[in-house]
Amino acid sequence: MNGTPVTHVPPLHDPEARGFASDNYAGIHPEVLAAIARANGGHQVAYGADVYTQHLQDVFQLHFGGDAVAYPVFNGTGANVVSLQAMTQRWDAVICAESAHINVDECGAPERVAGLKLLAVPTPLGKLTPELVDLQARGWGDEHRAQPKVVSITQSTELGTCYSVDEIAAIVEHAHGHDMAVHLDGARIANAAAALGVPLGAFTADLGVDVVSFGGTKNGMMLGECVVVLNPEAVRGMAFLRKLSMQLASKMRFVSVQFDALLSGDLWLRNATHANAMAVRLEAAVRGVDGVHVQRPVQANAVFAILPPGVTAVLQKRYPFYVWEEHSGEVRWMTSFDTTEADVDGFATALKDEMATDHLVRREPGAG
Ligand SMILES: Cc1ncc(COP(=O)(O)O)c(C=O)c1O
Repeated sequence: MNGTPVTHVPPLHDPEARGFASDNYAGIHPEVLAAIARANGGHQVAYGADVYTQHLQDVFQLHFGGDAVAYPVFNGTGANVVSLQAMTQRWDAVICAESAHINVDECGAPERVAGLKLLAVPTPLGKLTPELVDLQARGWGDEHRAQPKVVSITQSTELGTCYSVDEIAAIVEHAHGHDMAVHLDGARIANAAAALGVPLGAFTADLGVDVVSFGGTKNGMMLGECVVVLNPEAVRGMAFLRKLSMQLASKMRFVSVQFDALLSGDLWLRNATHANAMAVRLEAAVRGVDGVHVQRPVQANAVFAILPPGVTAVLQKRYPFYVWEEHSGEVRWMTSFDTTEADVDGFATALKDEMATDHLVRREPGAG
């Protein structure tokens, strides 16, 4: 505590600048930040034996029922890797959508860290069905084939769609009928619940989903996700695997208290409802703009559209967002808890202006 206190240090970035790249680009919700500050001070037992993590068990049980056990971790890849390891033996396999985060966006961690075989299935909207599961659900007892043991679904999906409660019920029934367990990657589970207008348990615990990777970061936390075990019979060695996978936080109270801030009241729902509403507003503003093709149903907090590449490049300078598919020119716009109506309207206006310029330039003779 030596030295002169530093005051009025300006941020290194513009705190008013927001884009549509990712809900991970957003900062921390003020109520979450305040909760972290409340948990600060004094000493608490490390590695999860603190009062905040203990209290968190009650909070998750309120949403998922009395059997739920919550294991806070650092990030979503870690939540998935720990969950899937705990649900499988060395010779088992996980059936997932080809577009699943575990298949395309985790640098092979499920394969390399968990040693898992992923059996990926092409899906039209990022959603598995019992029929699609069956493309890979076979070969049990055949020693030449990794044994399908888990079906992993993402809710809401990587493509901004949501499974209905009935769709998940059908997958769970089908998977359990084949002695497979169900894992739900819920990096955006709050957005799905808000979109469906049902409690978090309605499409998870109530249907028999076995394990959930529960997302916090995209819903307004600083960092942290949680493996929520709903069926203790479906996992082994959770505590050991979390540590072995480098996902055991020593100062866990600061992860747990963030979840508490989201889930004890309705902050999780407020944040998700707002993010979803901003996606709907964005879609409404850009649908119908000549040359902009909204590609997929907007059911959570993502909008996918095909744009001329020149327009994308110009817009990205003002509003960061990602190109989803290089070859088709499809881009992804994500909204988050802090997206404002003015952000959406400003972006839509900029898009319309750029599209108009693009049309003009394309019409110029010799413009190429
Ligand atoms: C569907 C899905 N699962 C998991 C994750 C978690 O990833 P991370 O390891 O970056 O927290 C993400 C983040 O983009 C995601 O979109």
